[in-house]
Amino acid sequence: MAAYRQMGTGWTGLGVWIALLGMGIIGPGAAWGQDAATDFRNNCMSCHTIGGGRLVGPDLKGVTDRQDRQWILKFITDPKAMIDSGDPEAQKLLKESGGVVMPTLPLGKARIEALIDLLESESKLPRSKFAGQVVSDRPLGPADVAAGEKIFTGRQALTAGGAACYSCHSVEGVGGLGGGSLGPDLTKVFERLGGRKGLTAWLGSPATPTMQAAFGTHPLEQNEIESLVAYFQAQTQFAETPKPRQIFLGLGLAGACFALWGLNSLWKRRLGGVRRAMVQKAAIKG
Ligand code: HEC
Ligand code: HEC
Repeated sequence: MAAYRQMGTGWTGLGVWIALLGMGIIGPGAAWGQDAATDFRNNCMSCHTIGGGRLVGPDLKGVTDRQDRQWILKFITDPKAMIDSGDPEAQKLLKESGGVVMPTLPLGKARIEALIDLLESESKLPRSKFAGQVVSDRPLGPADVAAGEKIFTGRQALTAGGAACYSCHSVEGVGGLGGGSLGPDLTKVFERLGGRKGLTAWLGSPATPTMQAAFGTHPLEQNEIESLVAYFQAQTQFAETPKPRQIFLGLGLAGACFALWGLNSLWKRRLGGVRRAMVQKAAIKG
């Protein structure tokens, strides 16, 4: 029994190390314990397939033959910087994507290198497991649009408990206050993000910073996505009132950072409080 307990503590210690490694807190370049396939699924699949055609971004099958490896590394590390530098290839890709700029994802060199290896090996397969999901072609009707509106405005709660879209986004079709302004106006998002196929994939695993924070652990269900897509398709009939989008977005991101910071310090204070109480209790006992 004693021996068993001793082994137990040993294993617990090892477990803590493995957990820290997994969380990327320790380890070389935080690359250990990260799997390129998981990285691709969580960060790239919302906008790219490998051999399944274009979504918001280009199909990545054969990209390592089309582009130089150093170029790919530099591009993924900071797409906006590459585009702003006037690189002709990046400019061309931006144009083909209707002006949508790929987000900068905080992955680090080692994980990006592993992703490029993955792109290369998956491109050689007859069918990659990242060829993309098959999007239903069931015609979407008024009932889907109505269901989507309920979800958008929060009258229908999300199954996994994510926040209502309306608290951060507006669309032209919704009257009154017009929704939140933390996120961009979504009136034309159906067209902007590649129609039914592109938007369905995008919402399946949002990879932009705020959306990933809001829905990464509360993913939308497939039927919720379908209703929302129907709703956004119906919105395209409205003209989008021009808004100073950059300013909105900037304020929105600042707001989100502030909110996260606030929550974090609240949480810390709460924990601190609990710990203090425990220490005091221990002190009284002792
Ligand atoms: C929100 C959508 C989005 C996400 C998420 C995204 N990309 Fe992109 N990606 C794009 C767009 C759009 C382009 C085209 C260039 C542009 O407009 O910025 C692009 C271009 C690329 C290119 C150049 C393609 C070519 O044909 O030369 C590569 C490589 C790439 N992305 C890899 C990735 C990887 C790897 C990930 C995940 C770590 C990822 N992307 C995540 C939208 C996205
Ligand atoms: C906590 C605030 C918040 C909530 C809730 C939220 N969003 Fe977002 N959303 C944002 C922000 C901010 C952006 C800009 C990109 C980023 O930072 O993630 C965004 C971007 C988007 C985009 C990309 C728009 C574009 O033009 O590129 C789509 C699509 C989207 N959200 C859909 C939704 C849907 C659908 C819901 C509800 C299920 C939702 N969002 C709920 C904050 C939010």
